[in-house]
Amino acid sequence: MLSFSKRKGNALGAITLNEMKEKPKALNWGIIGLGGIAHAFVQDLLLLDSANLLAVASRTQAKANAFAQQYGAKRAYGSYEEIMNDKEVDILYIATPHDSHKSLAIDAMQSGKHVLCEKPMSVSRSQVEQMIHAARANNVFLMEAFWSRFNPSISEVLQRVKRGELGEVNYVNADFSFYREDPDDSRMLNMDLAGGSLLDMGVYPVFLSYMVLGIPLEIQAVGQLHSTGADLQTAAIFKYNNAVAQIMSGFKSQSDMRARICGTKASIFIEPIWHETQSYSFLENQSGEITNFKRPTNGKGFTYEIEECTACINAGKQESEKWTWQNSLDLMKITDEIRRQIGIKYPFE
Ligand SMILES: NC(=O)c1ccc[n+]([C@@H]2O[C@H](COP(=O)([O-])OP(=O)(O)OC[C@H]3O[C@@H](n4cnc5c(N)ncnc54)[C@H](OP(=O)(O)O)[C@@H]3O)[C@@H](O)[C@H]2O)c1
Repeated sequence: MLSFSKRKGNALGAITLNEMKEKPKALNWGIIGLGGIAHAFVQDLLLLDSANLLAVASRTQAKANAFAQQYGAKRAYGSYEEIMNDKEVDILYIATPHDSHKSLAIDAMQSGKHVLCEKPMSVSRSQVEQMIHAARANNVFLMEAFWSRFNPSISEVLQRVKRGELGEVNYVNADFSFYREDPDDSRMLNMDLAGGSLLDMGVYPVFLSYMVLGIPLEIQAVGQLHSTGADLQTAAIFKYNNAVAQIMSGFKSQSDMRARICGTKASIFIEPIWHETQSYSFLENQSGEITNFKRPTNGKGFTYEIEECTACINAGKQESEKWTWQNSLDLMKITDEIRRQIGIKYPFE
């Protein structure tokens, strides 16, 4: 464990990128927004020796106290402002609804903290640009918590695609849909919180087609909007030079959530639930032979993005090479266009 009294830190207290270059250290983590994903994430954080759970922050003190007690965080703050001012927090994990990602991430970076921000990085490409600008200006690390990028099966699948093992990829099909009923003021349906299926779940299928085929040449999207304006279901077809992709997200149907990447030589099926998968199957077109590859995750699978943050910060990097700022910008460019086509606009935009 790191001795806090011996830590050097910058003027604001956090370990600077240059110091991390000199001597790799475990990072002191802080968490903002103690909801569903924070509970899942912290359990993986606790699996890693390279991560210390130092502080957590909620809008209510009692909730922060309970969370800190449950997971052994040393400090519990009843406001987000207080954790920003904690000089010993190196990196803040932002786990609030999407509408607040940009402002909280910028506040954190201006306080000298590195940031891992839940997906979607923000609600639009222009907001992500502002976040990247803040990372540059404050010389800190920033990454979108796109954990699927670091999933062992998905990483391996993307390498196989890159090596040409599927031949020319001509079709990607991925969805993320389950049946649920939420009140209108819930995070899923409340437009003040950037509700809707596309930014919550649709970003995953968009991510897969983007990683395999890049930015589409054309997008044709349709959506079914709720009375609040949030998209209940969104489907889109992406056109590429020699390929098409179909993506879908929704709260109104239960999908098997298996993703498909099909090429001239072979196809890969990423097994359910594909975006957090434990295995994938490889089908050779000619022989019809199918092989299953099991790649169990450490914890739920958040461990890999946490380790990526630690490795990058220790290496003095401001961004990950595996999930770059450009990747986050591109993803938002695609979702911006889908939103434009189906008429999703948030009141705060
Ligand atoms: N990577 C993944 O697999 C994954 C999975 C689920 C969600 N996410 C992402 O994580 C983020 C949070 O999702 P979640 O499912 O954890 O949401 P959630 O359960 O509603 O929790 C969000 C937390 O944010 C805080 N918050 C701050 N302002 C809020 C506001 N105006 N209304 C409601 N809560 C507010 C609250 O914490 P306090 O009361 O403690 O302040 C709340 O508990 C979203 O951006 C989502 O896309 C990622």
